[in-house]
Amino acid sequence: MANDLEKEAAARASLRFVKDGQVVGLGTGSTAGHFIRLLGEKVKNGLRIRGIPTSDRSGELALSLGIPLTTLDECQEIDVTVDGADEVDPKLRLIKGGGGAMLREKIVASATRQLVIVADSSKQVPVLGKFPLPVEVIQFARALVAKRIAALGAEVRLRLEADGRPFVTDENHHILDCHFGKILDAEGLSRKLNDMPGLVEHGLFVGMASTVLFARGSEIVELHR
Ligand code: 5RP
Repeated sequence: MANDLEKEAAARASLRFVKDGQVVGLGTGSTAGHFIRLLGEKVKNGLRIRGIPTSDRSGELALSLGIPLTTLDECQEIDVTVDGADEVDPKLRLIKGGGGAMLREKIVASATRQLVIVADSSKQVPVLGKFPLPVEVIQFARALVAKRIAALGAEVRLRLEADGRPFVTDENHHILDCHFGKILDAEGLSRKLNDMPGLVEHGLFVGMASTVLFARGSEIVELHR
């Protein structure tokens, strides 16, 4: 619950990055959900923006709040995106994908001028890797990719739903949660993963976040890259 209050506080602090007339990337997860709800209030009060959601559920939430949406087909330049993260290191490198949306999240982040990450204090870490790295794979290639990632030293687990069936992403892929332990070379690991056929995307976001807003109790700590 304390974490949820921090998540809402961080989301609230990010509102000042959103300006009238902008195209806004809408992240996924509970912290991003707070942001979308708060943005919905601003839209009701007259803020004119268009949102690009990073998941079906964020899109549905935004529409339910009256936030107008656009798509990457219509608009390839996003002014600002507000999204959550599972871990953030001192160089603002991230692990994302705990909510299974990192494929669209990374695409949207790559088209964004300013990526603002909002997070509770538990997400701030000295070194990435305590949180298992989510890797999205084409179902056909799942076992092969799992074997190749295991060869890099990770313990690899297929993400499952509560009923035991594989979790399926918005793009109809599966997710492998990869326990690497401390990731000391995030850039190198990212490159190795990017080179694996059948691997669609992974949750290492390197050099993408421009600002991170951590809430620590009622205080907001702001970091910039
Ligand atoms: C979804 C994500 C989320 O941003 C991340 O999992 C953080 O979630 P939460 O805000 O619920 O703690 O990357 O793919």
